[in-house]
Amino acid sequence: MNGYQMTKQNQTPIFETLLGRAKRKVTSFHTPGHKNGKGLDSKLKDFTGKSAYLFDVTVFPEVDSLHDPVSSIKKAQNLMAEAYGVQASFFLVNGSTVGNQAMLMAACNPGDSVIVSRNAHKSILSGIILAGVWPIWIQPKVDQNLDILFDPLPEQIEAALHQYPEAKAVLVTSPTYNGVTADLVKISEIVHRHGKVLLVDEAHGPHLKFHEDLPISAVEAGADMCVQSTHKILSALSQGSVIHFNSESIDINRLKKIISMLQTTSPNYLILASIDLARRQAVLNGERTFEKVIRLAEGARKKINQTRHFFSFTRKEIQARGYDLDVTKLTINVTKSGFSGKEVDAILSKEYNIQVDAADLFNLIAIMGTGTDKEDVDRLVNALEEIDTKYHGSAKNWTLVIPSLSTEMVLMPREVFLSKKTKRVPISKAAGFISAQTLTPYPPGIPVLIPGERITQEICDYLMNLSEKELRVSGQETDKLRTIKVVAVH
Ligand SMILES: Cc1ncc(COP(=O)(O)O)c(C=O)c1O
Repeated sequence: MNGYQMTKQNQTPIFETLLGRAKRKVTSFHTPGHKNGKGLDSKLKDFTGKSAYLFDVTVFPEVDSLHDPVSSIKKAQNLMAEAYGVQASFFLVNGSTVGNQAMLMAACNPGDSVIVSRNAHKSILSGIILAGVWPIWIQPKVDQNLDILFDPLPEQIEAALHQYPEAKAVLVTSPTYNGVTADLVKISEIVHRHGKVLLVDEAHGPHLKFHEDLPISAVEAGADMCVQSTHKILSALSQGSVIHFNSESIDINRLKKIISMLQTTSPNYLILASIDLARRQAVLNGERTFEKVIRLAEGARKKINQTRHFFSFTRKEIQARGYDLDVTKLTINVTKSGFSGKEVDAILSKEYNIQVDAADLFNLIAIMGTGTDKEDVDRLVNALEEIDTKYHGSAKNWTLVIPSLSTEMVLMPREVFLSKKTKRVPISKAAGFISAQTLTPYPPGIPVLIPGERITQEICDYLMNLSEKELRVSGQETDKLRTIKVVAVH
C-alpha cells in the first residue's frame, strides 16, 4: 500500500457519520423504538451507559443503506476492499454464516455441484440447501497423533476435479477451527486450471494478511471469493463479517442481490461501525498487534509443551503434514491428563474463571485476538500448569475415528429438506434408506449423515455405538438416538 492509500485507511466513514449524528442530538421519529437509548430498560442502560445507543439507528440518507450504499457505507466497503487488495468487499451483519450461504448461492445455479470437504461449518450445509446444489464431499483426514481433522490436500482436490469434471466450484475451509490452513496457492492453481472457481470459508482468518509470520490469506492465494469473521480475531462486534470478491468469472451483481436477499433490512449500525474501525485498526496497527500476539502465543505454546500432560502442536509439526498454522490459535491436547477437553474446560471455567472458545474429548481451543494481552496468557498458562500437577482424571482410551463418509448422494439435500415425505426407522434397520436428517456427533463435529445420502451399515454401526455410550448427537431430534429420519418414498 502506498503512502496515499495508508493515509486514506485512517478514515472510518461509518463511524464518523454516526458520531456526527450522535453529537447533533437528533430527535428520533424512526426505528428503533428506544429513541437514542431513552426508552431502554434501565437495567441495561445502567450497566452499559447510554451513548452507544445513539449509534443504533435505521436506514436514512445521512447514515446510508447497507442494501444500496451510496455514501458512508460505500466508502467504508471500498476502503475494506483496498485494505485486502480485492475488487469489492461487502459488510455482513449475520456473521460468516450468511457469507457462506451467499457465496454458494452466488457462485452456483440450482443443480450445480460443489466439491467441499465434509469438515465444513454448518453454514456451508445450509448454503448447500439454500442454493439447491449437489455436494461432492471430500473425506477429511484424521490425525490420531494430534486428535484433529485436516481439510483436503491439493492432490485430493485435483483427484476430485478429475472424477467430477462437472463441478462448478471448490469450497475450502481455511483456516480450520484449529488454525490450520490449506495450501491455497496450489489449490487455487489447480482449481483455476480446471476452469472452476475457488471459494474459501476464511471465517478464522481476517488477520492473516497483516503479519508476515502468519499463513498466506485466501485472496492473496487467488481465491475468487472468501468470507471472514471480522469479529473472531479482529475487533468487530459479534456478527460483523465480510465477503471479499475477487473474481473474473462470478457475477458481482448477482452476489450483491443475494447478500441483500439474505440480510436484514434493519442492520445494526454499531456492528457496521465496528467493522469499519476494525479495518482501520488492522491496517494501521495490525503488524504491531500481531507481532505481540504471535510472541505471546508462541511463549504459551512452549510452556504448555513443558507440562507433563498437555501439548499444543507447533507450526513445524503442521507444516510437515503439508499445511500451515496460524500460531495465534492454541489447540491444547489434554488426553494424557486422563481428562477430556470438556472436563478441563469446566475446571478452567469454574476454578480459574477462564473461558476457552471450544472443547471436545481431546482438545481445548484457545483463540487469541487483538485484545489478548500478557496477563491473560499468563493466567491461562499458570492455570494449565497448576491443573497439570494438582488434578488427575481417570485414564480413558478414546480415539478419534470417523466412518467412511463417501456414501452415495441419491437426492439433492434441498429436495429432501423441503419436499420429501419422511418416516423414522430404527438405526439397526436404516442401512440402504436415504437420510432425511443431518446427524453430527461431537467429536468429530462433522455430519455423519446429511439429507439425501444413502445410509450405510458402517454409519449405522458408528451411530449405534455412540447411542450405547449415550453421547448426544446434534440434530437427533429425540432424547435418545434410536431411530433415523429417512425418505419415506422415493
Ligand atoms: C469455519 C467456520 N466458518 C463459519 C463460521 C460461522 O461464522 P459466524 O459465527 O461469524 O457466523 C464459523 C463459526 O464458528 C466457523 O468456525
